[in-house]
Amino acid sequence: MDADLLRSDLAALYPQFGLRVAHAGTVLVAPTDEELLELAEIVGEPGGIVEPGREGELLGWPSDTGRDAARRFVEWAWRLREAPGAARWRAPLAVLDGGRALGLAVLAHELDDPAGTVRTSSWLARADQGRGLGRRVRLMLLELAFGHLHATRAVTGAAEGNGASRRVTARCGYRETHRETGADGVVEVHAAITPAAWRKRRLTDVDVEGVDAFLAALDG
Ligand SMILES: CC(C)(COP(=O)(O)OP(=O)(O)OC[C@H]1O[C@@H](n2cnc3c(N)ncnc32)[C@H](O)[C@@H]1OP(=O)(O)O)[C@@H](O)C(=O)NCCC(=O)NCCS
Repeated sequence: MDADLLRSDLAALYPQFGLRVAHAGTVLVAPTDEELLELAEIVGEPGGIVEPGREGELLGWPSDTGRDAARRFVEWAWRLREAPGAARWRAPLAVLDGGRALGLAVLAHELDDPAGTVRTSSWLARADQGRGLGRRVRLMLLELAFGHLHATRAVTGAAEGNGASRRVTARCGYRETHRETGADGVVEVHAAITPAAWRKRRLTDVDVEGVDAFLAALDG
């Protein structure tokens, strides 16, 4: 079945499958299993996302590769598939560029987040990093959150040594809020942005679809 037809059938039950954010050839949509398998291949590849050996520090993932890593990723993504509600919703979105799935971004509101706060996280295949796509994806997520889902604050976090992620965060207008040292000794730098700060960096011509049904689900 065509991926977009499958998404529109799934959207009748799970409205996150109806969300679509597009800008300049980059599209964010809920991944089908076929797209999850494409992403799992990147996850399983040694050095597919970060330099080998830095998975724990930069991603908080075990450093194994191959089938175990791929399977862990797919199971994690499947666990995010739940009907969204006011208390918690998670929208994993595949980053499609030129028709290929080359990364995953998650926009979410978790149980312990204050009302109106959303969090973002994302990764791209290493071969596609460093050409501005990470910043574009972040601004597309903020367009969805602030421009359409009525969020009032967005937060994110990255390991202190994650130069690219922290640079994207800073360039989008976030401010550091606090630092936290994990049990593994890695210092996580947390940052937040308001709609007013985002508006100064807002992308033009972002096309967003599927918001009404998603918002209706959050209202119960
Ligand atoms: C974080 C990530 C999504 C950013 O995407 P990207 O496409 O590489 O980002 P961009 O090209 O838009 O921007 C990267 C910026 O960081 C800068 N940068 C890259 N490596 C850097 C480093 N080691 N130290 C400081 N800055 C760095 C780039 O120069 C660029 O800055 P500029 O816009 O001023 O030129 C991507 O690098 C990634 O997937 N990394 C691995 C997964 C990951 O760490 N995810 C975040 C987990 S919290």
